[in-house]
Amino acid sequence: MSRPIIIGIAGGTGSGKSTVAQEIYNSLPEESIAVIEQDNYYKDQSHLSFEERIKTNYDHPDAFDTALLLEHLKKLSMGEAIDKPIYDFSNHTRKKETVRVEPRDIIVLEGIMILVEPEIRNMLDIKIFVDTDADVRIIRRIKRDIKERGRTLDSVIDQYINVVRPMHLQFVEPTKRYADIIIPEGGYNKVAIDIMIAKVNEIVRRKQGLK
Ligand code: ADP
Ligand code: C5P
Ligand code: MG
Repeated sequence: MSRPIIIGIAGGTGSGKSTVAQEIYNSLPEESIAVIEQDNYYKDQSHLSFEERIKTNYDHPDAFDTALLLEHLKKLSMGEAIDKPIYDFSNHTRKKETVRVEPRDIIVLEGIMILVEPEIRNMLDIKIFVDTDADVRIIRRIKRDIKERGRTLDSVIDQYINVVRPMHLQFVEPTKRYADIIIPEGGYNKVAIDIMIAKVNEIVRRKQGLK
C-alpha cells in the first residue's frame, strides 16, 4: 500500500468537525478510510480523582497525548495498524478498551488542536478549518454536552466562559491561517462536503489504480 493521504479537520468546539469527518467517512467504502478523533487522545487521567479531573483545562494543547497521536499517525502512514484509545467524556478519562484501526488509503484526523503542533500539521496533506460563528457553536455545544456528554447547562456555560472561549481565541482560532480550505457552518454544508467527497473519491480511485 502506498502512503495514505491524511486529511486534517480543525475548528472550534461545536463547529461541526466530527460531523464533517463522519460525512466523508460515510461516502467511501469502509476499507478505504479511517477516522482518528483527537478527542480520543486526551491524556489518560485514571490516576486522578474525579474532582481533580474536572479541574483540568481540556482546551489547552497540554491536555492531549500528542506523542501517542504522532506515533499512531506515523504507524498508519507506514501501513501498520494501531490500537486507538477511546475517551469517556462523562468520566474525563480514557476507557480501558481500545479499538483496532487498520491502515487505510485515506486517514481523516479531526480535532480542535490538530493544526497547533507543527509536527502533526506537517503530516497533513489537506488541511481544513470548519468555521462556524461562536454563538452557533455554544448553542450546539450546550445541546450536545447535555445530551451526549453527561453535563448540566450551568457546567457547560461556566466552562465555556472561563476556559473554552479564552483558549479558543488563544490556540484554535489562530490556526485558521494554516488551512487550505475553510468550510463555513460545518456539518450540513452540503456544497463544501460534496466537493471534499469528490476530491477524496478521486484520490482513492487514483491510489487503487496504482495498486
Ligand atoms: P465538533 O466536533 O466540531 O465539536 P460536532 O460535529 O459534534 O462538532 O457538532 C456539534 C453539534 O452540532 C452536533 O450535535 C451536530 O449534530 C450539530 N451540527 C453539526 N453541524 C451542524 C450544522 N451545520 N447545523 C446544525 N447542527 C449541526
Ligand atoms: O468535539 P469537540 O471539538 O467539542 O471536543 C473538544 C471539546 O471537548 C473541548 O472544547 C473541551 O472543552 C471538551 N472536553 C470536555 N471534557 C473533557 C474533555 C474535553 O468538556 N473531559
Ligand atoms: Mg467533535
